[in-house]
Amino acid sequence: MRKKVIAGNWKMNKLASECGEFISRIIKDIDTDEKDVIICPTFLSISSAVNATAGTSVGIGAQNMHYEEKGAYTGEVSAEMIKEAGCKYVIIGHSERRKYYAETDDSISLKIKKAYETGLIPIMCIGESLEERESGETFNVLENQLVNALKPIETDENLIVAYEPVWAIGTGKTATDEQAQEACCFVRNTLKEIVGEKSDKIRILYGGSVNEKNIKALMAMPDIDGALVGGASLKDEFIKLVNYDK
Ligand code: 13P
Repeated sequence: MRKKVIAGNWKMNKLASECGEFISRIIKDIDTDEKDVIICPTFLSISSAVNATAGTSVGIGAQNMHYEEKGAYTGEVSAEMIKEAGCKYVIIGHSERRKYYAETDDSISLKIKKAYETGLIPIMCIGESLEERESGETFNVLENQLVNALKPIETDENLIVAYEPVWAIGTGKTATDEQAQEACCFVRNTLKEIVGEKSDKIRILYGGSVNEKNIKALMAMPDIDGALVGGASLKDEFIKLVNYDK
C-alpha cells in the first residue's frame, strides 16, 4: 500500500514573514497520520517553513535546484544548500520551469541524479500541453519525458512523479478523474519498463486545479497516490485538502 502524499507548491507566493504565520496557523488542524504532507515555499522562506514545522511530520521541499554542487552559476541554488536548509524534497521539472526557463529532459535528468546523491526526494513533474492532448500525443509526451530523464540514471522507489497536465494548471479546469487515472496508470506502466518492480512503490501524484471539491474523487483512483496543489495550498483550504479523507 502506497502512502498518500499531499504537497503544496507555493510557486512565487508568500513573503518569508507570512510563511511562518500561515504554517503555524494551519498545522494544528492538519492530519498527518496516514499521509505525507509537504510544503514547498520559495527558497527564501525555507528556513521559516522548517522552523514552523519543527517537531511535526510535515516535510519541506524546494521548488528547483541546480545539478552542480557549487561554482559560477549566478542566481542558482545547489542540492546541498537545500538539504542543509532542512528540505527533504525538491520539485524538479515543473512545467513552468520547462516553459519559462528552458528546462529540458536532460537537465531534469541531471537534477534528479543529483537530488538522489544528496539524499533529497525528487518530485518529478511531467505533463502534456493542450495541443498535445488534442492531437492525441499525451502518452508519447509522458513516455518521452519519463524515459529521457530516468533511463540514463539509477532510480529507485524514492521518487515521486507528479502528472500535471499543463492545460489544468491554474486554469480551474481539472482533468476528469478518469483522464487523471488513465494518465497516472500509463505513467506507472512506463515506470515499470524503466525501473522494473520498484515502480509499484513509486508514488504518482496528480496536479492541476486540485481543490477541496475534487480531491476526494481523484484520490479514490487506483493509480493516483496524492496531489501536487498550487493555488489552493496558499489558503486555509489546504487543511481540507490534506484532511480529504476525514
Ligand atoms: P494549481 O493547483 O494552481 O492549478 O497548480 C498546480 C501546480 O502547478 C502544482 O505544481
